[in-house]
Amino acid sequence: HTSHSLEGKTVLVSAGPTREKVDPIRFFTNRSSGKMGFAIAEAAADLGATVNLVTGPTNQTITHPNINRIDVESAEEMYEAIHRYYENSDIVIKAAAVADYRPKQVHEQKMKKQEGDLLLELERTKDILKSLGEKKTHQFLVGFAAETSDPIEYGLGKLRKKNLDAIVVNNVTAEGAGFGNDTNIVTYINKDEKQIPVELSSKKEVANKLFQFIVHDMKGDR
Ligand code: PMT
Repeated sequence: HTSHSLEGKTVLVSAGPTREKVDPIRFFTNRSSGKMGFAIAEAAADLGATVNLVTGPTNQTITHPNINRIDVESAEEMYEAIHRYYENSDIVIKAAAVADYRPKQVHEQKMKKQEGDLLLELERTKDILKSLGEKKTHQFLVGFAAETSDPIEYGLGKLRKKNLDAIVVNNVTAEGAGFGNDTNIVTYINKDEKQIPVELSSKKEVANKLFQFIVHDMKGDR
């Protein structure tokens, strides 16, 4: 009795952290394991979708034949890859934890130790989600918000500002939620700003719930 609610749909998912190079051997990154994004990709494929999964460096592996995995490292590479697949996507879910800043200068040789402190200058990366919202046509665009305080308020802000169809708010300070865990706790908020909480459950179960909500919202008057 498997449901095929995403049959014929193409789903684009981003997962994992990014790496922003300082020099050939050093980089900035974050605690994303890729588990949430990979669970979303697997759930979509199980529901019959064709899936493109753009992922930063992770230990995760995929098992489903309908998932096309595209490996990237930096926020810039993720931006390029996501935009390559965007036009042909029906649903886009951005679970990746993308760096907001990168070193302004990438050293070609290993940086040498020097006397005293070192000041590194950082510059902004492109906001991928915002750029997708700006050129959205038929896509159902879903962002994530990883917050450590006032998650709903900040999530609503991102939903409104970035022209999203829904946002998945992740209070990453709750026990069993967020970065690295096999489980998560989220709140799905759609364009009408209706909030649906998802209690503590495996990332795969969270992913399945998200697709229930998304399919429901896509059937609306869009
Ligand atoms: O990978 P796991 O260990 O399983 O952890 C899952 C998770 C906590 C990483 C995931 O559930 C999650 O919350 N992902 C979003 C993390 C994040 O970076 O949130 P944010 O609030 O900083 O960004 C908001 C949204 O903008 C996200 O959809 C993000 O992909 C996107 N973004 C951010 C920066 C940027 N330069 N471009 C973007 O598109």
